[in-house]
Amino acid sequence: MADAVSHSVPSHVAIIMDGNGRWAAAKGLPRVAGHREGAKAVRRAIEAAVNHNVRYLTLFAFSSENWQRPVSEVQDLTFLLKHYLRSELAELHAEGVQLKVIGERERFGEALAQELEAAERLTANNKRLTLVLALSYGGRAEIVAAVRRAIAAGVKPDELTEQNFANFLFTAGIPEPDLLIRTSGEQRVSNFLLWQLAYAEIWFTKVLWPDFCGRDFADALEDYASRERRFGARPV
Ligand code: FPP
Repeated sequence: MADAVSHSVPSHVAIIMDGNGRWAAAKGLPRVAGHREGAKAVRRAIEAAVNHNVRYLTLFAFSSENWQRPVSEVQDLTFLLKHYLRSELAELHAEGVQLKVIGERERFGEALAQELEAAERLTANNKRLTLVLALSYGGRAEIVAAVRRAIAAGVKPDELTEQNFANFLFTAGIPEPDLLIRTSGEQRVSNFLLWQLAYAEIWFTKVLWPDFCGRDFADALEDYASRERRFGARPV
């Protein structure tokens, strides 16, 4: 367990990007316009993370519950993801961004799953920023899948620890988030990284995701720097 310390820059920032639909509705536009603008905010968040020397950025791009949305919206989001990957990958790679995908990518179909895998392979040795995209991701499902993998690997009940259990999660090898940001004023974790967020600081903002910019990212980091992280310990 870490000591009670204040680290000025979080190593890992996770974001629940929320409010695309409300942004579009407020402008009398279809929801897809909000998602499109949200994809632009993704680029700004990546730039901000790189500029602030954040090492890991995890974005909740599609939850396991999002499959319940109308087929047309699921198609729009899948199209945007594909388009984003194709149009941004070369630049992300050139900027030293490593891409990792967590979640049930195979639910998007074999072709996209393979494209995502190819992007992971291409960027595997990049060191500047690890961009983790949570796609068809649910925290509870991840924990159940991890338990199944541990059992399949022959781990005995009394051998299982918090440390080795983490190796069976999608996020094996990735440090836990230090800071969780959620936009749009909602104050929930919504089945995101349930295991990994145990000691994360949380920062909520009313800003809708499509409006999220570098200044908002900097505000979140400033607030984070003022907090004392205790990890359950007493203050030093
Ligand atoms: C939440 O807004 C956002 C999503 C369900 C999807 C997030 C997708 C993007 C930011 C765009 C594409 C992403 C990538 C990585 C290219 P909401 O639709 O729930 O908004 P609402 O709560 O206002 O209705």
